[in-house]
Amino acid sequence: SSMEVLATPPSLSPPVVLTQDELKKIAAYKAVEFVESGMVLGLGTGSTAKHAVDRIGELLRLGKLKNIVGIPTSKKTQEQALSLGIPLSDLNSHPTVDLAIDGADEVDPHLNLVKGRGGSLLREKMVEGACKKFVCIVDESKLVNHLGGSGLAMPVEIVPFCWEFTARKLQNTLEDSGCVAKLRNGAKGEPFVTDNGNYIVDLYLQKSMGDLRAASDAILRIAGVVEHGMFLDMATTVIVAGELGITIKNK
Ligand code: 5RP
Repeated sequence: SSMEVLATPPSLSPPVVLTQDELKKIAAYKAVEFVESGMVLGLGTGSTAKHAVDRIGELLRLGKLKNIVGIPTSKKTQEQALSLGIPLSDLNSHPTVDLAIDGADEVDPHLNLVKGRGGSLLREKMVEGACKKFVCIVDESKLVNHLGGSGLAMPVEIVPFCWEFTARKLQNTLEDSGCVAKLRNGAKGEPFVTDNGNYIVDLYLQKSMGDLRAASDAILRIAGVVEHGMFLDMATTVIVAGELGITIKNK
């Protein structure tokens, strides 16, 4: 018998695999390229938006951006922005926001979003609803065919008063989608409390909601509901960072 000795192939450099956090940072830095001096900026919440806020702080410190006013979408982002020396204001004083940059939990092909896994959906919706431009930043794992399609929660902020009653109403309202409603818990098993003193009910859907606008209206008609995490027709741009590069989708 004989043994064939194969020539060793020329060494290839190993492929560079980026972590999810590195992809988030790439999307965030790309979005900050849209920021100009003098802008009123909506500052998002979450691990992706955090990179954008860090970058804005860095550019201010380097003098490459000037006269920025930040409108934070959560207490957490407010703290981060303050620590970076970003001047802050609110929607009372600045009812029109030039540009908001924020992450999302899901992005559908029409650029509709699910947000709020971090629990900041109400302030995010208020600030991003007041924006001329809303640039959403995600890594490619957030792309879905339809909202609710990731199997992850669709969050709804509700008042604490008789929350079980409201949770049941939510579940019944979306029963055609096989909805299961669960109260979100905090770290110690107590109910999670939002920046606004409310609770979050996470909706798990087995099927697509179909007409999203109708589902949105039905949810918002339930007394006890404050706001839900579907952001329909709000993002003007979505920046997706993936292993093969950056994709920019415009509405
Ligand atoms: C918080 C949000 C976040 O933008 C969303 O949960 C994405 O978070 P991350 O960037 O950490 O993946 O809506 O309410």
